[in-house]
Amino acid sequence: MKCIRFSHSGGDKRPEPRSRKSIWNLSSSGGSNPDNARRSGSEANSQTDASGSGQGSPASNFLLSSSMRQNELKVFSFAELKAATRNFHRTHWLGEGGFGCVYKGFIKVNRTDGTESKVEVAVKQLNGKGLQGHKEWLSEIRYLGVVDDPNLVKLIGYCLEDDPRGVQMLLVYEFMPKGSLEGHLFRRGPPVLPWEARVKIALGTARGLAYLHEELQIQIIYRDFKTSNILLDDSFGPKLSDFGLARLGPEGGDSHVTTAVVGTVGYAAPEYVHTGHLTAKSDVWSFGVVLLELLTGRKALDKNRPKNEQRLLEWVKPYISTSRKFHLIMDPSLEGHYPLQAAQKMASLAASCLTRQPKARPKMSALVEGLKQVLAIPVPDGDGTECKENTPQKLEKFHSDPGVTREKLSVWKMFTVPKLVKT
Ligand SMILES: Nc1ncnc2c1ncn2[C@@H]1O[C@H](COP(=O)(O)OP(=O)(O)OP(=O)(O)O)[C@@H](O)[C@H]1O
Ligand SMILES: [Mg+2]
Repeated sequence: MKCIRFSHSGGDKRPEPRSRKSIWNLSSSGGSNPDNARRSGSEANSQTDASGSGQGSPASNFLLSSSMRQNELKVFSFAELKAATRNFHRTHWLGEGGFGCVYKGFIKVNRTDGTESKVEVAVKQLNGKGLQGHKEWLSEIRYLGVVDDPNLVKLIGYCLEDDPRGVQMLLVYEFMPKGSLEGHLFRRGPPVLPWEARVKIALGTARGLAYLHEELQIQIIYRDFKTSNILLDDSFGPKLSDFGLARLGPEGGDSHVTTAVVGTVGYAAPEYVHTGHLTAKSDVWSFGVVLLELLTGRKALDKNRPKNEQRLLEWVKPYISTSRKFHLIMDPSLEGHYPLQAAQKMASLAASCLTRQPKARPKMSALVEGLKQVLAIPVPDGDGTECKENTPQKLEKFHSDPGVTREKLSVWKMFTVPKLVKT
């Protein structure tokens, strides 16, 4: 079996329960491929290394002491996962991201009464051979194997196995029946994601980030907050998925960690893109972008729109603090069915996240409190006439008026959205 080289300190030698295998075991199970151990220059320079170095530091102690002991990860054979997904049949295909394809599967579980039942899962198969994919696979296990919060997707287990076609690296998650927020928010046509569901999704994900930033022994920076990584359960409850880019936060009085710049175009904080300095406030920026997406129903970056509307932050800025015109940025598919005051409050929370100075951005726990207040404002009865001016036709007319757009945009010309490529 090929091995993913994985450095660690020797701090924790507690025996692993027999039923599971930990990444600790993976790392020490022999073989070492120097290519797998190599990191990009800036990653290697980072002060805190998510891939396991930093011997004896609180960070490594945290990962090593808690990894795998709190959450029992199951080790699947490749044959099991093939059977679970009917040989990765296209009818089981759920989607595809940078990591690889995701399939729906069914695995057998033993009930406490001794009977067997089948449980739905999502199986993610790494399709690339590159180092980045291996690193993301390991990060998923390291972080999702440790964290435990209702707003984070559960990792059930993994598979690492040699196969005639190469090493197979897969991850098995709890199945999220409603798919990703991206699929619901940007879908053309009904059913529309109602206002209340949007606020609940914002609140749930804010809680998830607050847990990672503020409630653990050592902070975790998620680094890839975006609508496609927010998965929804049967009642549209959100859970964060994809910890492949997650990093441990700064420690020992450091203000930031220095890393290679990775992430997704349109969501990453400008200071991170420009300097590689990563803090939890980078996640807060991305959270602000998603709040705006929830309000407007527009993507952070949409190349299919007219040039001056492609970058959401630039498009929205002139109207966000103008109460008279604020409703014009709201998602027209809501057809006015939202409380204007609540939407404005949510927009002001978004604006506070999108402050250029990271320190001035709120903590996630403060955003949780703010969003609770937003949720408490009831949706008006009736047909939503008070906000109904925002029909698609009116919006089109308003935004195609060059006088309005140019004049307003000039006010914000200091504001530029960073360019970033997902690696
Ligand atoms: N646990 C899950 N339950 C149900 N569907 C899932 C699950 N995980 C992923 N999916 C589906 O698979 C799709 C692809 O997910 P994936 O995380 O691989 O890519 P992505 O988020 O679209 O892009 P990126 O690689 O940039 O994260 C998701 O949009 C979602 O529809
Ligand atoms: Mg994803």
